[in-house]
Amino acid sequence: MMPKHEKTYLTKANFMLHGGDYNPDQWLDQPDILADDIKLMRLSHTNTFSVGIFAWSALEPEEGVYQFEWLDEIFANIHGIGGRIILATPSGARPAWLSQKYPEVLRVDASRVKQLHGMRHNHCFTSEAYREKTEQINRLLAERYGDHPALLMWHISNEYGGECHCDKCQSAFKKWLKNKYNDDLKALNDAWWGPFWSHTFNDWSQIESPSPIGENMVHGLNLDWRRFVTDQTISFYENEIVPLRELTPEIPITTNFMADTHDLIPFQSLDYSKFAKHLDVISWDAYPAWHNDWETTADLASKVGFINDLYRSLKQQPFLLMESTPSGVNWHDVNKAKRPGMHLLSSMQMLAHGSDSVLYFQWRKSRGSSEKFHGAVVDHDNSSENRVFKEVAKVGETLEKLSAVVGTNRTSDVAILYDWENNWALNDAQGYGMQSKRYPQTLQEHYRAFWDKDIPVDVITKEQDFSSYKLLVVPMLYLVSEETIGRLKEFVANGGTLVMTYISGIVNEYDLTYLGGWHKDLQELFGINPQETDTLYPKDRNAVLYGNKTYELKDYATVLDVHSAVVEGQYQTDFYADTPALTSKQYGEGKSYYIGARLEADFHQDFYGKLIEELAIEPAHSVKHSEGVSIQVREDQENEYVFVMNFTEQQQTVSFGATVKDLVTEEELTGDLTLEKYEVRIVAKAKND
Ligand code: GLA
Ligand code: GLA
Repeated sequence: MMPKHEKTYLTKANFMLHGGDYNPDQWLDQPDILADDIKLMRLSHTNTFSVGIFAWSALEPEEGVYQFEWLDEIFANIHGIGGRIILATPSGARPAWLSQKYPEVLRVDASRVKQLHGMRHNHCFTSEAYREKTEQINRLLAERYGDHPALLMWHISNEYGGECHCDKCQSAFKKWLKNKYNDDLKALNDAWWGPFWSHTFNDWSQIESPSPIGENMVHGLNLDWRRFVTDQTISFYENEIVPLRELTPEIPITTNFMADTHDLIPFQSLDYSKFAKHLDVISWDAYPAWHNDWETTADLASKVGFINDLYRSLKQQPFLLMESTPSGVNWHDVNKAKRPGMHLLSSMQMLAHGSDSVLYFQWRKSRGSSEKFHGAVVDHDNSSENRVFKEVAKVGETLEKLSAVVGTNRTSDVAILYDWENNWALNDAQGYGMQSKRYPQTLQEHYRAFWDKDIPVDVITKEQDFSSYKLLVVPMLYLVSEETIGRLKEFVANGGTLVMTYISGIVNEYDLTYLGGWHKDLQELFGINPQETDTLYPKDRNAVLYGNKTYELKDYATVLDVHSAVVEGQYQTDFYADTPALTSKQYGEGKSYYIGARLEADFHQDFYGKLIEELAIEPAHSVKHSEGVSIQVREDQENEYVFVMNFTEQQQTVSFGATVKDLVTEEELTGDLTLEKYEVRIVAKAKND
């Protein structure tokens, strides 16, 4: 199977990074605390610190007046204990003097309200003044620390997000549109379906970004605006890294990505598939709400698996967990502490899916302001004796045994396709059920069937190569370009198996519907023409009969006209009772399946179970276990590193078919092994054994 991907990982560190956001700038007048930090870093088995993320006012307290001495000392102290530094550029928050002197850096929101100075993550991404200022300070940082042996990586800004609607941004948006539509206003009017409500423009100057007090229902405009926001954010980032690429070409660059919480779905506002191309290493901030009261631990673990597999697949290489919490956060509705054992388990799960780090926000709990109760490695007690600190140290000790895993990757025969643009367009669509579209959550549901069977999955985006996968799962791809349709067709023609669902292939990349029935290439590929999609009320249920079993359906049911497909399942009730709900078609060397309805988890288990068998897709490793235990594997040419994780509150027995070596305890294991609640084992197996 290996190697599919070369080791392209770029940190050059041959150890697992452990540490996190370190904000000594909050404690500069307390040298005793800074000295304790160094002692506690050793005791917690940490080795890498992200420094300077919000330190602009400590670095440049007045315009042009710089104070780097404190940072010199931090570099020296961390280097002194063999630690490494991920140096941040400080643009995520700026000093008050900067907003005061250059008010253009302040954002204007969608309602055209100019924001005051305050908070963070709120700069205008077009402002020349902010671009100049950030480039300037970044250059000074690169000049001063670029050659420092402790410098491991650049951390650009922090969690880029949001948007600005100021005059400069309006001009930039119009320029972006002129470029996209080749200066042809008619082409823009056509793409945005201008005549609807008399929205045809006769001059570029009439165009405005979407606004709650103006235009917000022209879907083509909304979609172009979201694309522009991504491009403009990347352009701001590219400007930030100019001096870093120039002065430190060897130092890899990342910026920390996010998730949208509650359901732990991919961050919505920026198209990370585009952004990823500009980073050397993907990193992201993971804050799953463990022990919540709306899902089981295994339910949440599967969602963590999904998003990790997406972010890893963006570059098909290991990524970094840039932030996490050793305990609770301070911004969930209820900020529950991680139960004993969960910290190690949840940290190892990140590794299992491809992370080469466990990093935290933050090293030391702040004394004041909004995050003073957010979980941290060092609490207000400044002690190494509390439970959380000890659990962190245990993670550190464990990571020290896992350096062989650094840089190893995963392989999979299955891919699920996620598309940011599709998510935007689908959420914008005024139709279907306004609450029930749940595109990313639907992907999580499909993913779950593979997670339960230990089948590794890549979660890929539309421009990635499909050809190495046996099975490609494409739920709810509402927006799909003709180019992508062509690539899906080619994938099946060449022997791939493709699964598509209801609400797919409806609009093109301009958010204009396809005319004349389903796209003819999709009709040919699937042998069907979807007729109408029935949207159900939340309490409504129907069912589909598939292989002698009846499965419950909710939310969506598409009535299908079948012309050259095999009917695999039928609706059970309503006016479309006994009509096709699920079809398959042999096409070229491959096969296509269309699932017309939103079906329950049991269906996914059985349906994908059958495909897995037919396509001879193997689990990553044959460790036998019961529900709620996850097996994930990283590998290189010689070895498999198998993560055996108990995401249940009960003891579980797992059974190893071959002898493996526990990387932490160094015992040889074979046969049955009992895992305690939340226990994790990481074992290695040589491939030629
Ligand atoms: C009203 C309006 C129409 C259309 C419909 C949609 O009746 O007059 O233009 O928007 O609602 O239901
Ligand atoms: C984000 C930010 C951090 C901190 C944490 C709190 O990830 O990047 O600065 O606010 O959230 O969970």
